[in-house]
Amino acid sequence: METEKILILKGNIISAPGFGRLELVENGYLVAEDGNITGVFKSLPDRFDGAHVTDCGSAIIMQSFCDMHLHAPQYPLLGLGLDMQLMEWLDTYTYPTEAKFKDTEYAKRVFEAFAQDLIGGGTTRVSVFSSVHNEATYALTEALSRLHVAGYIGKVNMDRSCPDSIREDTAASLRATEEWLERALPNKTLRPIITPRFVPVCSDELLSGLGHIAYRCGLPVQSHLSENIKEIALVRELCPETYGYWHAYERHGLLRRGSLMAHCVYSDLRERNALKENGVWAVHCPCSNMDLSSGIMPVRRFVYEGVNVCMGSDIAGGADLFMPGVIKAAVRMSKLNWIATAQSEPILSIAEAYYLATTAGAKCLGAGAGFAPGDPLHCIVVDDSRISAADEGRPLGERFERLMYRMQPADIIAVWAEGYRVK
Ligand code: GUN
Ligand code: FE
Repeated sequence: METEKILILKGNIISAPGFGRLELVENGYLVAEDGNITGVFKSLPDRFDGAHVTDCGSAIIMQSFCDMHLHAPQYPLLGLGLDMQLMEWLDTYTYPTEAKFKDTEYAKRVFEAFAQDLIGGGTTRVSVFSSVHNEATYALTEALSRLHVAGYIGKVNMDRSCPDSIREDTAASLRATEEWLERALPNKTLRPIITPRFVPVCSDELLSGLGHIAYRCGLPVQSHLSENIKEIALVRELCPETYGYWHAYERHGLLRRGSLMAHCVYSDLRERNALKENGVWAVHCPCSNMDLSSGIMPVRRFVYEGVNVCMGSDIAGGADLFMPGVIKAAVRMSKLNWIATAQSEPILSIAEAYYLATTAGAKCLGAGAGFAPGDPLHCIVVDDSRISAADEGRPLGERFERLMYRMQPADIIAVWAEGYRVK
């Protein structure tokens, strides 16, 4: 696969340069050179005279999605066991499913389908959990890299309170992490991230060892934080000397700048301040929080206080890998929050949720806002004719809003990731 020297897409272009701020360019041009964005133009600059233009007609060209928290080895588990809550679901469904990834051939088959599904739905950047297995993690890296998916990938660490089939010995877990990093560190597109699963399944010795590795290699960390009431009570019981859940990570150097903590449903002011001061991203996973009956994250409060927020599907805690489904869930959940807070916390708009699922994640990974010049091209082209058949002629902003509620993966007719055409 090669990037084109000059790629010019003509069509209706939508991007989210700011929280709640959309940039709409009708019949404009999105230009990339050698896979990197040159810019979005209302009319084509003279220097591209004579260059080939790909005319997308009335289709909508927009930023592709960033799924900043998901579990690839839970792909076979999508839609199962969701009458349970977190801890029971992990024991009954998740751990036995992830244990199967000891079989590398099985892992390769699952990850191939997972990567295709991800790209088919327009997600081109991720922060993804693998399983505890190094070989499966290499297989996941290969499957995603073939489709030019960018972001972070983590080999999971866990050494207590889980079935023998996936529990690692503490020293072996740290050794395996070092071995994986030796292979993973040179990869500049899908970069390694330190991935202690969560406090209940990680001993202090493991957390401390991982903190040292993260420091030595200058790596971010991803994990789970304050997702579920029973989980939080368990952490309090396991770590009575800490000031809060966040502190069980912070004291081992795991709240590193640019790290990602999923959920934060029950984070109090102190925890939110710890995230903010350490430059850690809270990853909002509304489908998961609903599907596992975890609770409602007050997203707007985080944003208002200056905590960085991005969005994740958290498959298979969330049953939807397709990010427009997650965007829609974030908006709907914010409406429940508005009702539950006696109308004191305003709802999220579609434009705000789209920003969290695109630019916010891209920024976490070091990219700019919207279609920023110099960034590798990540975009999708969406044909809304199936949806608009009964109601043509709407303004572009309304067509976009309707797409977020109504689009399906089949409506995405083209995808570029890291400058490569992958669908
Ligand atoms: N906490 C620890 N592991 C998991 C997981 O796999 N999914 C979710 N949703 N929460 C977790
Ligand atoms: Fe998760």
